[in-house]
Amino acid sequence: MSRTTTDALYLVTIVTFILALRFLSSPKHARKGNWIGAAGMALAIAVTLAQTGVGNYPLIVVGMLLGGAVGLVGARRVKMTAMPQMVALFNGVGGGAAALISLDAFHRFGGTFSTVEAVSIALSALIGAVSFSGSLVAYAKLQELISGRPIVYRGQQVVNALTIGIAVVLGVWIAAGGDTQGLIYGLLAAALVFGVMFVLPIGGADMPVVVSLLNAFTGLAASATGFVLHNNMLIVAGALVGASGTLLTLMMGRAMNRSITNVLFGAFGQVQASTGTARVDDGRTVRATSPEDVAVMLSYARKVIVVPGYGLAVAQAQHDVRQLAELLEEKGVDVVYAIHPVAGRMPGHMNVLLAEANVPYDALKEMDEVNPEFAQTDVVLVIGANDVTNPAARTDTSSPIYGMPILDVDKAAAVVVMKRSMAPGFAGIDNELYLDPRTTMLFGDAKDSVGKLIVAVKAT
Ligand code: TAP
Repeated sequence: MSRTTTDALYLVTIVTFILALRFLSSPKHARKGNWIGAAGMALAIAVTLAQTGVGNYPLIVVGMLLGGAVGLVGARRVKMTAMPQMVALFNGVGGGAAALISLDAFHRFGGTFSTVEAVSIALSALIGAVSFSGSLVAYAKLQELISGRPIVYRGQQVVNALTIGIAVVLGVWIAAGGDTQGLIYGLLAAALVFGVMFVLPIGGADMPVVVSLLNAFTGLAASATGFVLHNNMLIVAGALVGASGTLLTLMMGRAMNRSITNVLFGAFGQVQASTGTARVDDGRTVRATSPEDVAVMLSYARKVIVVPGYGLAVAQAQHDVRQLAELLEEKGVDVVYAIHPVAGRMPGHMNVLLAEANVPYDALKEMDEVNPEFAQTDVVLVIGANDVTNPAARTDTSSPIYGMPILDVDKAAAVVVMKRSMAPGFAGIDNELYLDPRTTMLFGDAKDSVGKLIVAVKAT
């Protein structure tokens, strides 16, 4: 295939990647975006394999079949709540692949590189290896193979600074034309150790932000690899992943009111331990309710807003929630869903969950759009959500979540909170909402409770 044809086809793939990102930004078109991206990737692979001097085709096919099978089975079997670790694993292998390509290129052509190639090799080995080992630790934490708690020890910062220092010195050496094989092995080893050390002190619950950052790293490593292989498609695709991963990381940080430095080097696991019960010493009490009472409220409401959270995902109650909403709509109630950007444990968690249950996309409302509607809402059903509804984020300057934008559920006429106990959510803090006179608690597993509500609404 001529260079011009190759470049023209690569340009097509680049356009598909950009379109895929565009479509992925709305739940309505996300599925289409995935297909466009996958088609673009298939074309990119085909064009790359059609190049002369690619190498041993049977070996490549065996590798692709093995990798494809593992990916397919893994992706089909994974539970929605385990998606963050799946992403971590996929991301890690991408970083590892970039590092291996640099190793191979250095092995074969070491000493004959241009400066751009040498710099790219050093960068792709360094960033790719950090992303690989860091993602594996993130995976292990999320999968609870190791403790999710921040792992800290004396002199940690010094060890971290030393390992990354060694990796950078070796990288500069390579970039300056060093061609001893030991340089690349040393660089990879130091970067791998740094990846582990860098993620160990970060708490398991902050992993989604870290995974997103490591995803950006993998993109940059792939882009650098593109310079090594003189492959324009890889340069652009890597840059797209790097940019989107960086944006996502920043958006998650903003939605949690945490700076990225704070996530990476700050207060992991440092949030106060909760007492596990709401404060009742100021005379306010928590009021429990029954499915029958809630069913009456819901059936006579004009407008109901459902606020889904992590507990809904754990209970897998999405299908029941859709059924309940449909029942209410049959009774003339207007039902919408309020989606907080960091509800659940990964970006878009609630959108994916509700889309899976065929909830219509136009019933899903983003935080900024829905917040003014709470004041005109009769009943808010908070299902397995906690932190994203905590008014302390607006009012209590001493709260660890102070400043985090929240769903203004406390502005509604009545709030029903469905969870199993008074236990806190991710942030480990009590929720003032539960003491609000307009709030009642429907205790129990979300799936069970929604099931009981369905029965009770039918009987009303
Ligand atoms: P959380 O604040 O974590 O609260 C979830 C609540 O669900 C818990 O209070 C729990 O109470 C309840 N729950 C658990 N299992 C349940 C079940 N089977 N049935 C009913 N309820 C159940 O969730 P949220 O409001 O979605 O907030 C998300 C949190 O995660 C935020 O603090 C956010 O900053 C953080 N976070 C999010 C992301 C992304 S990108 N989404 C990334 C990192 C961190 P009980 O135990 O009493 O049932």
